[in-house]
Amino acid sequence: MDSLRCVLLVLCFQNYWNWLQTLEEVALRFVVLADWGGVPFPPYYTPHEEAVAAEVDRLAQTGGVDFILSLGDHFYFSGVKNAEDPRFKHTFERVFSQPSLLDIPWYLIAGNHDHKGNISAQMAYSDTSHRWNYPGLYYDLQFTAPHTNVSLSILMIDTVVLCGNTDDQTQPSGPENPRDAEQHWNWIRSKLASSKSDYVVVAGHYPVWSIGNHGPTSCLVDRLRPLLKKYRVTVYLCGHDHNLQFIREDDGSSYVVSGSGAVSDPATTHRNSVPLSWQLYSSPVNHTAGGLTYLQVNEHQMTVTFKQTDGKCVYQAELPARQHV
Ligand SMILES: *[C@@H]1O[C@H](CO)[C@@H](O)[C@H](O)[C@H]1NC(C)=O
Ligand SMILES: *[C@@H]1O[C@H](CO)[C@@H](O)[C@H](O)[C@H]1NC(C)=O
Ligand SMILES: *[C@@H]1O[C@H](CO)[C@@H](O)[C@H](O)[C@H]1NC(C)=O
Repeated sequence: MDSLRCVLLVLCFQNYWNWLQTLEEVALRFVVLADWGGVPFPPYYTPHEEAVAAEVDRLAQTGGVDFILSLGDHFYFSGVKNAEDPRFKHTFERVFSQPSLLDIPWYLIAGNHDHKGNISAQMAYSDTSHRWNYPGLYYDLQFTAPHTNVSLSILMIDTVVLCGNTDDQTQPSGPENPRDAEQHWNWIRSKLASSKSDYVVVAGHYPVWSIGNHGPTSCLVDRLRPLLKKYRVTVYLCGHDHNLQFIREDDGSSYVVSGSGAVSDPATTHRNSVPLSWQLYSSPVNHTAGGLTYLQVNEHQMTVTFKQTDGKCVYQAELPARQHV
């Protein structure tokens, strides 16, 4: 009798568990990281980077993580030399090493520091690591939320190709190869014009808007921002400034900065470069610590959650699906 009850209980629990899992799978869930590239001397990572990895592990084991977007500056200060560079081990593999993370795909695009080294080597590393996906300087990703028809397009763009490199404190100096830059702008325009997805995300390294040390990138304010509005992009994601920010313009266009992968920078240098009413949250102004951004997508909305490395949710925003015309 007791053993029968036990079997029934197990069956029941199994069904309940399956049902819970189905509910969870109805959302697509991903983490946005940038600027986690450690330091160029032993131990080649920072304590903050380790804490970020621990928080991604926690999310993978609780809410679930389907993939990770990594938006540049993977290796401070000058990228890697070749695909065998030990920095892949020291700054990436040994830090994001928790068992729950080993099968989660990373999709990467380069930052200004990566471009100071060998970008082909970062792409070539895709053949060495099954979780490292960097197929080209820029590319797009298509996802469908499990058990739904809810579609998400992500344009991974290279803002250094578009705007040029920087010596860290200044605005990017203009594209190194203007023809490549124009080709990239045309690619962005045509991808956005043809997308019918319920959610469209554009992700690059430099910010459009930011209140931090680097501030807004005029090249992107001038040329990318009008495209984001025209094609009703759900959100622009970036790094470069080493903090967390959520900025929303009066017309609803939304901007996330998630660049505190290696450090948490308290600077508010460009607080006056962004209209105050658009600054809904930032880790320095709101006196919270940096960490990561976690996005969940279902048929009703995209939920953007900013998390400190101790797992605390410090800000949350909900973004609607694009209106279908
Ligand atoms: C860049 O990395 C690739 C892949 O490891 C290598 O074949 C190439 O020689 C490297 N380029 C330079 C300039 O070192
Ligand atoms: C997805 O779309 C197909 C074709 O329009 C439809 O048959 C199906 O029921 C939809 N599935 C869900 C979960 O909405
Ligand atoms: C963050 O700080 C700004 C400016 O002080 C304030 O207006 C806003 O309400 C704060 N937001 C949160 C989420 O604490």
